Amino acid sequence: TLRLSQTLPVSTAKVGKTSLIMTLVSEEFPDEVPLRAEEITIPADVTPERVPTHIVDYSGNHFFPFSLFSPLQANVICIVYSVNNKKSIDKLRKFYPVGYVLGYRVPLILVGNKSDLVEHSSMETILPIMNQYSEIETCVECSAKNLKNISELFYYAQKAVLHPTGPLYCPEEKE
Ligand code: GTP
Ligand code: MG
Repeated sequence: TLRLSQTLPVSTAKVGKTSLIMTLVSEEFPDEVPLRAEEITIPADVTPERVPTHIVDYSGNHFFPFSLFSPLQANVICIVYSVNNKKSIDKLRKFYPVGYVLGYRVPLILVGNKSDLVEHSSMETILPIMNQYSEIETCVECSAKNLKNISELFYYAQKAVLHPTGPLYCPEEKE
């Protein structure tokens, strides 16, 4: 299960979570999207790692439930920001260390969407944040609009679950 979430808590940042999911599914950028995409399961045979992948959209309009980070709810969480939106990047910095819930690690992937709108990469800004949180497996810049790095993003998400680089169980972190 994969969850696309907004950079922390609430407020609608319109970073493109729903567009990313719909673009993956239809292979074209939708002009209009609902607030939340329907939950979908991508069958194993069309995913790069050959595992069925259940994708849950998360709307920024909802209160940010802590249970979102439960491994029972998601095996990996993609935190989406918008590369042209400094506010959404600033939110990453205040990121609550959520990587361990009940002792289990939930890998996170930072997704910088709307790369079509900027010339410069946000990586320089993002790297210090990545280094701060070991639960962040990787980051990727993409564009739902240009269909850039969309399948890569979902591949990284699958990979983070199937071949994690960090420990999946960390009893010391339980306290
Ligand atoms: P909430 O659910 O309201 O939090 O928003 P969201 O994160 O689901 O964003 P949504 O997919 O609704 O997209 C918000 C706006 O950004 C829409 O107008 C999209 O068309 C636009 N958008 C999404 N992805 C891209 C992209 O890659 N490039 C550009 N230029 N616009 C995009
Ligand atoms: Mg949405």
